[in-house]
Amino acid sequence: MLKLTYLSHSSFILDDGTHTLVIDPFLSGNPTAPMKADDIEAQFVVLTHAHGDHLGDGLDIAKKHDALVIAVNELASYAAAQGAKAHNMHIGGAYNFPFGRLKWTIAHHGSSSPDGQYMGEPAGVVITMGGKTVYHTGDTGLFLDMQLIGERDAIDCMIAPIGDNFTMGIDDAVKAVEFVKPGLAIPMHYNTFPVIEADPDEFRIKVAEKGFNARVMQFGETIEL
Ligand code: NI
Ligand code: MN
Repeated sequence: MLKLTYLSHSSFILDDGTHTLVIDPFLSGNPTAPMKADDIEAQFVVLTHAHGDHLGDGLDIAKKHDALVIAVNELASYAAAQGAKAHNMHIGGAYNFPFGRLKWTIAHHGSSSPDGQYMGEPAGVVITMGGKTVYHTGDTGLFLDMQLIGERDAIDCMIAPIGDNFTMGIDDAVKAVEFVKPGLAIPMHYNTFPVIEADPDEFRIKVAEKGFNARVMQFGETIEL
């Protein structure tokens, strides 16, 4: 059993009934956030990259709950230097955590901290937890190696950006779904700010036209995968 909660933008909570993991918790300063950082309780904080709309409240949540930050080496070291517990990894590497297996993938994007430091490569993440495998692409453009990600792990749920400008737009995200062939596709990284306005129903319809399932999650909604 795996419950997935959408906190808006790129932020999701994964909960298997025993472990709670939050990805890219950007709540403070996020006009679409359905709750405050103080309301988030997690034992694991997964950060795809260090941009402010992903690092967000991650270190505060980690320190408050003594949660483990999981990120690529440079960002994990930064988290540790700020006083959080951290597990350093890198792209291509997987590790078995108490909640399950987590593996980092490439993402085509940038990654610097809000104070301008180099934070290593941005990444996507494949998490197997509660009997389900979720691929959160992080911020990225479309890339053909997504086919390989879908071949290496059967993806039950793929979470992909559709907001364009900084990441894939709708049509590239639909192509990404065709590459990965997930059981379910969920759009993210849209309508937080005017520059990334997009219609998630257009994504859902276009994915369905290609023979795949997509679902638009409301901000704050929880579903069981
Ligand atoms: Ni970014
Ligand atoms: Mn972003």
